[in-house]
Amino acid sequence: MFVISGGRPLCGVVSASGSKNAALPIMAASLVCSGQLRLSRVPDVVDVHSLRKLLATLGVRSTITADEPGGMTLEATSQKHHVAGYELVRKMRAGICVLGPLLASRGHARVSLPGGCNIGHRPIDLHLRGLSALGADLRVENGYVVAEADRLRGAEVNLAGPHGSTVTGTCNIMTAAALASGRTVITSAACEPEVIDLGHCLNRMGGNISGLGTPVIEIDGVDQLAGATHEVIPDRIETGTLLIAAAITGGDVTVLDARADHLVQTTNLLQHLGVCVQLPSSSGDAHRGTCEIRARANGRIRAAHVVAGPYPGVPTDLQAQLMALLCIAHGSSTVVDRVFPDRFLHAAELMRLGARIHRRGDSAVIDGVARLGGANVMAGDLRASAALVLAGLAAEGHTEIRRIYHLDRGYEQLETKLNGLGARITRTDDTPEPGSPHWRRQRRTASTT
Ligand code: EPU
Repeated sequence: MFVISGGRPLCGVVSASGSKNAALPIMAASLVCSGQLRLSRVPDVVDVHSLRKLLATLGVRSTITADEPGGMTLEATSQKHHVAGYELVRKMRAGICVLGPLLASRGHARVSLPGGCNIGHRPIDLHLRGLSALGADLRVENGYVVAEADRLRGAEVNLAGPHGSTVTGTCNIMTAAALASGRTVITSAACEPEVIDLGHCLNRMGGNISGLGTPVIEIDGVDQLAGATHEVIPDRIETGTLLIAAAITGGDVTVLDARADHLVQTTNLLQHLGVCVQLPSSSGDAHRGTCEIRARANGRIRAAHVVAGPYPGVPTDLQAQLMALLCIAHGSSTVVDRVFPDRFLHAAELMRLGARIHRRGDSAVIDGVARLGGANVMAGDLRASAALVLAGLAAEGHTEIRRIYHLDRGYEQLETKLNGLGARITRTDDTPEPGSPHWRRQRRTASTT
């Protein structure tokens, strides 16, 4: 759990880590690679390590390399295995990213269905529809997707779902189609930067993919994909979270090594909310497309109507953090999530800190309050944890956030980064040492409830 002593403006400079959601499908693509896949900027987060474990059971040897930040080498040394078991996939939905690569490289795959999730209904019908269009024989059996195909055949695949395209579904189909015979055209493909990054990596391996970043991706299958070197893009969700940390605490934070072009609607929104956002300066790296982004609070946050949607919209993965910010806005705001319409579990926990939020139709309505106050709260998922950390940083007094393991799935050393900007966050065991300040606080809280 985290214990946060809030109410301090965060100021300073911090670097963005590599993107978790780009790194995961790229790591899974090691299954279709005949040589070594050398990556850099892979974030040191629990989901990455869970996927390494899963890939190890599938014959992929991965090594952390110390020569560059986030260095990792992956190599499929055995083609024998094709079962992604429940124990590993249930810990991380992105385990489904191995389905397409396994099928394309080994002709069969048995992958556990990912199961339930706290952010809403998350079916995988579009993944299955896509693989079936490529000629796979698919069935669901005892909680597993069982897929078989001699060699996948290029086809037209439409990935439109009721809430837009699918990010990991597009990754699965694109990677599988890279080794299929003939041409695949994915329509209604996801345009997210993480999908583009995977496409660039596959092209470095010798793939032939065009249309990345548009809803129509064309893939001319090749017989073999070779080893390659690839640097993972910066994490736009972590970057956005750090910029919101500046705004919510009345601070001034510069994020280095970021991609401003991946966050245009988010930085526009922050400006609309009254935050001063300074975009690319010459100190960035033009070749890698990275730059620095500075966010400086400038008086009270303005209320707004926020809609989270597929890229290039405001990301659903920043919706909870933005809701935390709107809790202290002047006036009444609304938030709608078009990707996961019920992703509002964080609202009840934010209310424990004094936020005023209620649901009206598909919107969360947030009546801004002048200040939040510390409280004990519980993290329900990865981005909800981040929202609670942000709210705790802004709140007066102490906030205790339990189940912080959700946060560790996707943020690299978040508390170290925030403490470097002046936050006071302590990571501690949920059961405190008898006699410690945390123990005394917990006893006081217990005696008043
Ligand atoms: N959907 C379907 N059928 C499918 C797949 C998805 O109806 O077969 C629906 C989903 O229920 C949802 C929408 O389509 O309403 C979009 O889901 P998508 O498949 O794009 O989500 P995902 O690929 O499972 C990735 C990220 C999520 C992020 C979403 C949306 C990874 C590993 N995960 O999930 O990230 O919220 O895209 O951008 O890339 C996070 O990092 O906290 C996280 C949840």
